[in-house]
Amino acid sequence: MLARNSRERRRMADNRSVTDWRHRHLLGIKELTREDIETVFGVADRFMEVLRSPVRYVPALRDFTVATLFFEPSTRTRMSFELAAKRLSAEVISFSPGTSSLQKGETILDTVANVLAMGVDLMVVRHASSGTPHLIAECFPQVAVVNGGDGTHEHPTQALLDTYTLRREYGTLKGLRVAIVGDILHSRVARSNILCLKKLGAEVMVCAPPALLPHTIEKWQVAYTTQINIALRWCDVVYVLRIQKERQQSAYISSMDEYSHFYAITMERLLSAGKPFKVMHPGPMNRGIEIDSRVADAPHSLILQQVEHGVAVRMAVLYLIATARGHVKG
Ligand code: CP
Repeated sequence: MLARNSRERRRMADNRSVTDWRHRHLLGIKELTREDIETVFGVADRFMEVLRSPVRYVPALRDFTVATLFFEPSTRTRMSFELAAKRLSAEVISFSPGTSSLQKGETILDTVANVLAMGVDLMVVRHASSGTPHLIAECFPQVAVVNGGDGTHEHPTQALLDTYTLRREYGTLKGLRVAIVGDILHSRVARSNILCLKKLGAEVMVCAPPALLPHTIEKWQVAYTTQINIALRWCDVVYVLRIQKERQQSAYISSMDEYSHFYAITMERLLSAGKPFKVMHPGPMNRGIEIDSRVADAPHSLILQQVEHGVAVRMAVLYLIATARGHVKG
């Protein structure tokens, strides 16, 4: 049957891409194609409309239970997934390691097996060890696993919400120049974003002190520099990373003051580059260390848009995985 009008044609195209989504887990950007990422964006567009409407809920995931298992601290990712699940009418349970039976010696896999026995359909997992969500997905294929950030490896939904924010801002990422500045060595956000930005046609440069650039950087197929002014002259968007004190097992930088002196994104540095910028940060920010408050709070900052879009993007990820697993009818 021919689609009657453009709205109906768009709906049919959207439905086709939703049913084309095959991923039963989301463990990394690495396994997504450009088309998969566009599918997430298309569904997120629909959910942005829902979130901005008077009734901010849809019944899509009734009879579906999401557990958030965060073995590392989080504000944005955890709350955003929990809100996303609730906006889709799913039930949500959460786990806090500090008050759990991990403290009595229970293993992570036993913890997961017990949570699963309660009837959970999808788990969002964050852990300090790279590969933990992958291990859970391998051991318990019956539950959907979404990586909420694993060690220094990947943070796929952060990259999806970041690139979605850029797509809403610029229309396309093709040819957009993004400089990622800071602790590249320890950053799962940088890894996922580089993969995602490149799949969408953006150009990427990373900028860090020599000790915070991976020694394999040549193989990453991105431009790189240790000079902040080179990165700022080159880019349209500066993506500022947090200095991760918790992942620096030895002194990679001699002091925070020295890091700020050479790499902090300040208004003076942006003005001296003499062109407009958009500024992003995944949060949490160390104000006064990697980013100046005047930059973070200025109109060119996309930082709170990133957070707002995170809810819609995570709704899209939950919805697509639940659909691939046969939980969404019609
Ligand atoms: N960006 C991010 O992962 O923030 P949280 O650590 O607060 O989840």
